[in-house]
Amino acid sequence: MAKVKYDMELRPNPRSGRYRLISANWKMNLNHLEAIQAIQKLNFLLRPSDYSYTEISIHPPFTDLRPLQLLIDSDRMRIRLGAQNCHHEPSGAFTGEVSAPMLARLNVSYVIVGHSERRQYFNESDETVRSKVKAVFNSQMTPIICVGESLQEREQGETEAKLRTQVDTAVSFLPPEIAERCVVAYEPIWAIGGGISAKPEDAEQGAVTIRGIFQELWGSDVAGKVRIQYGGSVNPTNAANFMQLENIDGLLVGGAALDPESLARIIQA
Ligand code: PGA
Repeated sequence: MAKVKYDMELRPNPRSGRYRLISANWKMNLNHLEAIQAIQKLNFLLRPSDYSYTEISIHPPFTDLRPLQLLIDSDRMRIRLGAQNCHHEPSGAFTGEVSAPMLARLNVSYVIVGHSERRQYFNESDETVRSKVKAVFNSQMTPIICVGESLQEREQGETEAKLRTQVDTAVSFLPPEIAERCVVAYEPIWAIGGGISAKPEDAEQGAVTIRGIFQELWGSDVAGKVRIQYGGSVNPTNAANFMQLENIDGLLVGGAALDPESLARIIQA
């Protein structure tokens, strides 16, 4: 399996040795014409140093992927293309679905799997997420595996148990050299979309738990390489608070990523 090719100029975080990754999850927003405008504006707003500091992936709806791929290629943008979901089978009679090989053919680098909205509205189980993780790696892409507890689970002290089950089921079958390439997004469900983000200490605690699971499964070398994002009501004002955390390597941004100006401010924060 091929690794994500890193820009010569992309610099890892000197403290952790890991490459930062800020991802924009556009969800079911922006048609392909709006998407083209948004990405052109984002590219105009970002300075070369922004791209050296952090990898940036944009996850638009499926219908936007091809036009954005052409634009990124022709303008040599350093933005990576991402998807929001895929089916776990490479092809077949699955009406309405899109497979991992189809995404790979469009130069998609990162695929979000197991977003809480997929789990909630499309009944994706931990086992479904696991088979999607496998499909994404089989197509030489990198999964962004979303995990997180509900408010009720948090209040009942079940956060760690929930993260353990979700992460363990999604990744435990991987060989170590693949496991270390995972990106996990810690997205407490109660913090998504509502405008109230987690406190930095809660985000860090979630990330510590997730890294700890990789440590138990494969040891500290693998655990030290896995990248962990925080997601849930990230905005230009709070982004830096999360990026400063020891175990947080990036952000998964929803609402605030729809406006190129606010996304650029998050990246520059
Ligand atoms: P939000 O969404 O930034 O709008 O809270 C984050 C996500 O769902 O990934």
